[in-house]
Amino acid sequence: MIVSRSINTIRTAAGKARKKSKRIGFVPTMGALHKGHLSLVKAARKECGFVTVSIFVNPIQFGPREDFRSYPRNFKKDEMLLEAEGVDLIFYPSISGMYDRDFSVYVEEISLSRYLCGKSRPGHFRGVCTVVAKLFNIVQPDIAYFGQKDYQQAQIIKRMVKDLNFSLKVKVMPIVREKDGLAMSSRNKYLSIKERKDALCLYNSLMLASKMVKGGICSSATVVANMKKLIRNQAPYARIDYINIVNPGTLEEVKKIKGKVLAALAVYIGKTRLIDNMLLR
Ligand code: PAF
Repeated sequence: MIVSRSINTIRTAAGKARKKSKRIGFVPTMGALHKGHLSLVKAARKECGFVTVSIFVNPIQFGPREDFRSYPRNFKKDEMLLEAEGVDLIFYPSISGMYDRDFSVYVEEISLSRYLCGKSRPGHFRGVCTVVAKLFNIVQPDIAYFGQKDYQQAQIIKRMVKDLNFSLKVKVMPIVREKDGLAMSSRNKYLSIKERKDALCLYNSLMLASKMVKGGICSSATVVANMKKLIRNQAPYARIDYINIVNPGTLEEVKKIKGKVLAALAVYIGKTRLIDNMLLR
């Protein structure tokens, strides 16, 4: 396994694999890897002859009062996990290696980014698109893998790939959950024992939404009101950022549930902002 901070080394190694007609699979991450990330790596390993993973806590996707400084970092453990998955290449750039002092070009998606997390985290998806575009240019993968837990991010990246004619396929893999249903996230590490229990309210509220929709309830307002009620009951100290029922393609809110919709929410459990979502029919 090659591990490098150097863009040139990554380009050369990926270039050699390409010359050997190996399909290049790419999993961009911010490290603090868990089973969710590893499911993306496993999918890449299955489908591609050469697997690259990037580990970079991207400062420009964090707001000024967000957790960039405290974001969990454990490179040695991540390296061990990736080695065990048979990864070929880890790209582990420094901040200055990615962003020159005079860096001044950004990539911004302006439609899907208006909703859900885009509303409460202004500039977040601009930072994500910019770093992912750079990583795509450096690695030049055939397939890039993203998790459905960040549903909006995956949709925005797909749109960027289409609109900017990147020559690669984006694959979105299912959410990996703990046994009790909590979606795996690097931020779960922040939770105290009590908060970890409270955090289950996200998944429970989505399961309630699913049950209601299956039961024939088609008013989004009713579903959202019941999800809020469940969260208030199960985790009285949780602070709801948003709960929305949206069109899974456009991410616009829907009033009447017809066909497939996405229920998505962000909730603060203590200081930790967690997100989750579920496709409902
Ligand atoms: O999902 C993440 O971990 C990040 O947003 C990503 C895609 C690696 C970009 O920094």
